[in-house]
Amino acid sequence: MRKINIGIIGFGNIGTGVVKILQQRKSLLSQKIGVEIVIKKICDKDITTKRDVNIDKNFLTREASEIINDPQIDVIVELMGGINPAREFILQALKKGKHEVTANKALLAECGSELFTEAAERGRNICFEASVGAGIPIIKAIKEGLVANKFSSIFGIVNGTSNYVLTQMSTDGSSFANAIAQAKNKGFAEKDPTFDIEGFDSAHKLIVLTYLAYGKIVNMKDVFIEGISQISASDIAYAKDLGYKIKLLAIAKKEGDELEVRVHPTFLPKGHLLASVDGVFNAIYASSDLAGDLMFYGPGAGQFPAASAVVSDIVDLTQDIKAGLFRPTLNSIQDTSIKGLRKIDEFENRYYIRITAVDKPGVLAKISGILGKFGISIASVTQKEKLKAQVVPVVMVTHEVKEKNLRAALKSIDKLADIKEKCVAIRIEGV
Ligand SMILES: NC(=O)c1ccc[n+]([C@@H]2O[C@H](COP(=O)([O-])OP(=O)(O)OC[C@H]3O[C@@H](n4cnc5c(N)ncnc54)[C@H](OP(=O)(O)O)[C@@H]3O)[C@@H](O)[C@H]2O)c1
Repeated sequence: MRKINIGIIGFGNIGTGVVKILQQRKSLLSQKIGVEIVIKKICDKDITTKRDVNIDKNFLTREASEIINDPQIDVIVELMGGINPAREFILQALKKGKHEVTANKALLAECGSELFTEAAERGRNICFEASVGAGIPIIKAIKEGLVANKFSSIFGIVNGTSNYVLTQMSTDGSSFANAIAQAKNKGFAEKDPTFDIEGFDSAHKLIVLTYLAYGKIVNMKDVFIEGISQISASDIAYAKDLGYKIKLLAIAKKEGDELEVRVHPTFLPKGHLLASVDGVFNAIYASSDLAGDLMFYGPGAGQFPAASAVVSDIVDLTQDIKAGLFRPTLNSIQDTSIKGLRKIDEFENRYYIRITAVDKPGVLAKISGILGKFGISIASVTQKEKLKAQVVPVVMVTHEVKEKNLRAALKSIDKLADIKEKCVAIRIEGV
């Protein structure tokens, strides 16, 4: 049986998972794929700490160059995370003629273009199934299963930490701070969860999905990103009253000849499939023209789910190597009907608005006057119970409105003397 040698850089959580799977499923994999996958070397900064897997010390090295420069290694599996030196290691390895597997969405979002170009020039492949949704096979689904489709939109709940926090707030009425504390206690949030909570991790994954679905490389600076740290328990409760759930969505959406690429908290109707995705689970909802609306659901993180996806990439590469094939990293065919990215000002959405106003005659009329001036039409208004000092939350749902008009109207409303807190606006999707 043909042997294919791999080297792994990064022997942490996912690296250990990959080694476990390759050891424990060795014969099953060889039977299925007709190739023996051999781990030739593993690199990590720390090669003394005992890992949760048995591995001969001779297989370990602190020097990535021992893997990159080894002519017998065909595939390099980068599981160290971060941008540099992961980027340099992959570029060097491509130059040495090796194929790559990575789970590193941050690297793909920041340097994907450079890495894929280098891979194409060298006739090598980069696989990255674990980079979005961990074990959910969404990359292959878009690249292969849905290859003939065009996508009107892709909606993703792709960050388990923020989904857990929003779920807790919705389930037990927790404040944002309490929900974050619970997430940390359970190991679902980093000590500093900013990256997850403020939508940056979701944006990285969205860039990867946009790349696959639309053949378009979007820069991080061009993704509109708003996190969930400003979501209050009352917004969650009003959402429930109105028949919605709040989710942090990563959205790529084609509108005419433009593409919107955005991450933000979103009101989703309770009946929408994505609204039922709770806790740390992830899901990607793709609207395609041939296959229809599809949802891919599963654990979006964790050692075995991510390692399962990494192993599937390794297996794919072994098959290509065995067949002497080069399959380009992605179908780099751009959707040529897309002329550019839509600017945030031009986004059109329905909105939930919460206005905290003094409860006295005439205030609502002033607010309606401003909304009317900016062409904003209201689908529903609810005036909630009085709070301290005769202040009431007024909750409105708008019809479709341009973002710039909504922002301008809220800015004017915020200036009214009877308004006691900055207005809150959350976009509504899925209706
Ligand atoms: N965890 C998940 O559920 C999950 C899911 C999907 C994708 N991913 C992605 O998978 C990758 C790995 O994640 P992980 O959770 O396994 O991280 P991890 O546990 O921190 O493992 C990374 C390992 O790489 C080592 N390392 C860092 N820089 C290195 C270098 N220059 N040379 C050699 N070794 C180096 C780290 O050592 P030190 O600890 O000493 O720095 C650590 O042992 C990341 O890109 C992540 O985004 C993770």
